Amino acid sequence: MAIHVRLGVVNAAHRPISTPPALMRSETVRLPDGRELRIRPIAPADAEPIAAAFELLTEDEIRRRFLHPIKALGPEYLQRLTQPDRHKDFVVVAAEPLPAGKALVAAVARLACDRNAPKHAEFGILVSHFVSGQGLGRLLMQRLLDWASKRGLQEIYGDVLYENSRMLNLAREMGFERVATNDPSGSVRVRRLLR
Ligand SMILES: CC(C)(COP(=O)(O)OP(=O)(O)OC[C@H]1O[C@@H](n2cnc3c(N)ncnc32)[C@H](O)[C@@H]1OP(=O)(O)O)[C@@H](O)C(=O)NCCC(=O)NCCS
Repeated sequence: MAIHVRLGVVNAAHRPISTPPALMRSETVRLPDGRELRIRPIAPADAEPIAAAFELLTEDEIRRRFLHPIKALGPEYLQRLTQPDRHKDFVVVAAEPLPAGKALVAAVARLACDRNAPKHAEFGILVSHFVSGQGLGRLLMQRLLDWASKRGLQEIYGDVLYENSRMLNLAREMGFERVATNDPSGSVRVRRLLR
């Protein structure tokens, strides 16, 4: 049975935090392992828990997300991540159902519109190994796609390491195609065109 079918939505509330209500509903999901997580737009207070959670990630997870090793998330990156320009960027987290700042953050998914092509946006997603393989990656990607469609974007894309079969499978299943690139970094670009 597909993983995403087993992930149950507990409730959904119209409680926008950093985006207009029409573009993002917060929702609580119960994972197959019993954990309850809140799917919501990122908040400035998430910076500290995200920095702390980063310490618990494996080198492999970090390299798959950022395509190269990173030791820590710097303050500028954290500020851009947690205080996105809501007209150009969208960031959603899966976190404990506690107030931002107190809640541990288990996953972050981001769409960042290109400065020179604002109808195109790059995705980045990281689901911590503590909660992976339970449908969260698929759900968060769907929320990115929902936001992109509502914003009238034309394309979302991401660079994924060739060896990252998990992300490549997920992307393929969600309608992304591979774009021919000659990237020496060992990554392949996947993209999905939107109406
Ligand atoms: C890639 C990633 C986002 C997937 O998140 P996830 O929550 O584990 O994914 P899901 O549980 O939603 O699974 C979605 C799909 O991934 C694939 N998948 C999941 N677990 C897998 C595994 N162990 N092996 C191979 N594919 C797997 C399947 O295609 C699955 O589809 P299904 O629901 O039909 O079975 C997560 O592993 C991750 O954050 N990895 C590190 C960072 C990264 O690679 N980011 C992507 C580049 S930006």
